[in-house]
Formats: sequence, C-alpha cells, structure tokens
Amino acid sequence: MTKTSPKQESITNQATSCSTSTAQKEQEQKTQLKLEKIKHKIAIISGKGGVGKSTVTANLAMAYASEGHKVGILDADLHGPCIPKMLGIERQPLKSGIAGIFPAVGKLGIKVVSMDFFLPSDEAPLIWRGPLKMRAIEQFIGDVAWGELDYLFIDLPPGTGDEPLSIMHFIPDMDGVVIVTMPSELSEAIVKKSVTFAKETGIPVIGIVENLSGYVCPDCGKKVDIFKSGGGKRISDALSVPYLGSIPIDPRVCIDSDSGLPFMAANQSLPVAKAFIEIVAKIKEFLSVNQFLSNQEKKVKP
Ligand SMILES: Nc1ncnc2c1ncn2[C@@H]1O[C@H](COP(=O)(O)OP(=O)(O)OP(=O)(O)O)[C@@H](O)[C@H]1O
Ligand SMILES: [Mg+2]
Repeated sequence: MTKTSPKQESITNQATSCSTSTAQKEQEQKTQLKLEKIKHKIAIISGKGGVGKSTVTANLAMAYASEGHKVGILDADLHGPCIPKMLGIERQPLKSGIAGIFPAVGKLGIKVVSMDFFLPSDEAPLIWRGPLKMRAIEQFIGDVAWGELDYLFIDLPPGTGDEPLSIMHFIPDMDGVVIVTMPSELSEAIVKKSVTFAKETGIPVIGIVENLSGYVCPDCGKKVDIFKSGGGKRISDALSVPYLGSIPIDPRVCIDSDSGLPFMAANQSLPVAKAFIEIVAKIKEFLSVNQFLSNQEKKVKP
C-alpha cells in the first residue's frame, strides 16, 4: 500500500473539504430555488406520537386541493411514513428527469414525497442516524421537482429530534407550524415542548389543534370525553398561541385513512369535516395577516 506524506494528506483533506463545501453550496442553492416556487410551507408537529399529525396533514392537503390549489406533502416521518397509504398512493419507484425526482401524484393532484417510496417493503425499517436523515430531508426538498405549489404541508414524526430540526433548518422562511395535541394532561405537558421548540427555532406557531376531542354517540347524541377535554385550549391560553379548533373522534376517520381516502374528501357535512373547515379558515386568516404584515414591512424598508 502506498504511504501518503502528512503534507499530501493535508492537501487531500483540503481538496475534499473544498469540494464538499462546493457541493454543499450547490445543494443549498438547489434547495433555495425549489422553495422559491412554493408559496406557503406549513409543518404539522407534536411532541406526542399518535395524536393525529398525519391525519391532520392529509386532510388539510385534501381541503386545500379541493379548493383548486396546487398542493404537495413532504412526508418527513422517515421511520414511520404513512402519508402515501393515507392518500391511497401505492409504493412506487419515483421517476427522475432533468428537473429532479418527480413526486408521486395522488387524489386531486396532491404531490407526495415519502421515504415509503424508497423502502423495499412495508416491513423494511429505516436504520439511519441523524446526519443521514438530515441529508435525506435536504434531498426531499432540493432534489425533488415540486414545481409551482400553493401549499406544501410537511408531516413530521413526534418530538423535536432530527427531522423537525432539519426541516426548520432547510426551510427557515416557513409560514409556521400547526401543533396537534389530544385532550389529556399527559399530552398537554409534552406538546408544550413543541410550542417552545417552534419559538426557539423562530418559526411562527399558526395554532393548536386538539384532535381526538370527545366522541358523540351516534345513537343518543351524548358527547363522551374519552381522553378528558380542554388540553389544547389550556396550552393555547398558557403559552399565548392561537387555538385553531377541536376535532372529535369518529371511527370513520380511521376507516377512511386506512382505505386511502382522507375524511375531508367524502364526508363534508359531518362534525369532523366541519372542524377541519373551521381550522382551514383560521389558517387562511393567519396566512393573510402574515402576508399583509410582510407587505407592510417591505413598504417601510427602502
Ligand atoms: N379524529 C379521529 N377520529 C378517529 N380516528 C382518528 C382521528 N384522528 C386520527 N385517528 C386515527 O388515529 C391513528 C393515529 O393517527 P395518525 O397516524 O394521524 O397520528 P400521528 O400523530 O401522525 O402518529 P405518529 O406519531 O405515529 O406519526 C390513525 O389510525 C388515525 O386514523
Ligand atoms: Mg404520523
């Protein structure tokens, strides 16, 4: 084996770090260019698992797409991707061209990129540490041919780990986060961390959604607060963040997402759909106020 002198090693290291930083800069530029074509970016987060983040993401996407908007979903839950299944999109190898990797396209033209498309089977786990996950998320933004979008929703895994941090890092101009919780005190305590996380990373909190908020008996009409009640509103009051609304428990939500048809698509008149419609209205209000304020800021700046 040929030995390299310390000097040669140092030159090689410099060359590698130089090309790495050039490659890194190119990737950053690509990411930036892709993001410029997306009008609104909204992440759905929660400190707690299983509270309905993906359900909220899929239904918000459906709600906006059914109004004729161009919508995409970045499924940033790398270890437990489930957006394709919720939207009825089969696992498929994503095609690529000069513009990049083409997202899969689901109902109402919703574009989706998910780790699910890169795994060989349902049973195959992703065994990756932080840096690889960060790189994958950067590629999910910069190497994907998202095209012009009105809304990009980002579905995140629970907690404040690698994936949310990477998303906040690569999309610093995000419109904001929607935080999902359930009514229990346990969830309340954990979800407060998400509010602090958003505040510390400088991302606006669009508001809190309380999912799994009571069950109305279809026979007698009585509401039963299965997971207690009011946790979401308490977080919103305690931490001075907007409250977007409560989504009741409805077994049809689960049945529909298992069969790949988000609830919003088929059941517009039911309480869950009405709750989503109110949440969508509040998100729109937030975005238009933000737009107004940023236009004012631009006017003030010379
Ligand atoms: N309002 C609801 N009524 C009935 N079932 C619901 C409701 N919201 C969510 N579910 C069901 O609860 C389960 C968990 O929801 P979901 O996968 O959206 O949670 P999550 O927060 O994304 O979970 P994870 O932390 O694992 O990513 C799903 O089976 C979903 O269909
Ligand atoms: Mg999820």
